[in-house]
Amino acid sequence: MSTVSLPSSSRHDAPLHDPTARGFASDNAAGMHPEVLQALVAANGGHVPSYGGDAYTSALSEALRAHFGAGTSSAVVLTGTGANVVALQALTSRWESVLASDQAHVLHDEAGGLEHVGGVKVTALPTVDGLVDPADVERAVRDADSPMRAPVGALTLTQSTELGTTYPLDQLRDLVRVAHGLGVRVHVDGARLSNAAVSLGCELGEVTTALGVDAVSVGGTKNGGALAEAVVVRGEGPAEALRRLVKPSMQQSSKTRFVSAQLLALFGGDLWRRTASAANGAASALATAVRSAGATTTRPVQANAVFAALPPAVAQRAAARVPFHVWDERWAPGLVEVRLVASFDTTTEDVQALAAVLREELARG
Ligand SMILES: Cc1ncc(COP(=O)(O)O)c(C=O)c1O
Repeated sequence: MSTVSLPSSSRHDAPLHDPTARGFASDNAAGMHPEVLQALVAANGGHVPSYGGDAYTSALSEALRAHFGAGTSSAVVLTGTGANVVALQALTSRWESVLASDQAHVLHDEAGGLEHVGGVKVTALPTVDGLVDPADVERAVRDADSPMRAPVGALTLTQSTELGTTYPLDQLRDLVRVAHGLGVRVHVDGARLSNAAVSLGCELGEVTTALGVDAVSVGGTKNGGALAEAVVVRGEGPAEALRRLVKPSMQQSSKTRFVSAQLLALFGGDLWRRTASAANGAASALATAVRSAGATTTRPVQANAVFAALPPAVAQRAAARVPFHVWDERWAPGLVEVRLVASFDTTTEDVQALAAVLREELARG
């Protein structure tokens, strides 16, 4: 028998990343929460049924039902894009369209996934700080009521929004009432649902299914998991659609137990609340630090993201020292808008370090 040995250049004896590196580029840049990692290790060993037939997936399904209500069903998926694509297909017919905010991840940052996989058109609604107004939903649904247009089957709302804001319960209730009154189902992109619920002082179900929301993408990855998201739907029609859609939407993992074990660690107890509280608290401290460094915040800080205006050269130099993204290059004459995202493991020292960098770079001009 012959053996193949790898050239020494392809052996990875040295660490491939610096485990002490910190930044504010995204909550996706953070690693896994130690309790989630522990749950993953505990789920290892032995052979169990694959494709979701395992005890972790059953226990997760019960835990999610406890959060979102007795009439709900869930599926485990691998990405937030996958969750949105599966959930929105479950709520729509192939000839229908989906209304989304003009800031929506599903519109800008999913590479047309819903159109590509689901064949469902997405139409943008205007927003203020990422929030959709019920009157614009009503207008868009009526505008689409023509043989020349794709009728609206669903409205998707991001909670917390792409701009770090949260829908108050009353606004959500109104949006659901208006949408349902027009025969339109409602989906919540909850990639950061935990952050929104903590910010509003609510349970996960209170901000979604208890208000009549028909489907929820429940985020795990940004809150301490990895490759771990879920979809929750209300009612029997969407439940059957969900059962059928996960596999052809390429979101069915064979070793589902490892995804479910992570989500169970987050949602089976209060870890989701602890991690989101930590991230939201860090964002709030960050906003104060950014302002005291001399920059202006540009959006209400209601979850785990802070947006601020900086001169382009300052933003570029500061981001080279502590990573963060420029969100809008043309925010105002002489200013770009930047996005700083806090994670479950952001520390006071991280916040202070960024503030010191901003102070220095602003002084340089
Ligand atoms: C609002 C929102 N929805 C969904 C996602 C899911 O994205 P992904 O498919 O990269 O997991 C993200 C990720 O950044 C997001 O910010």
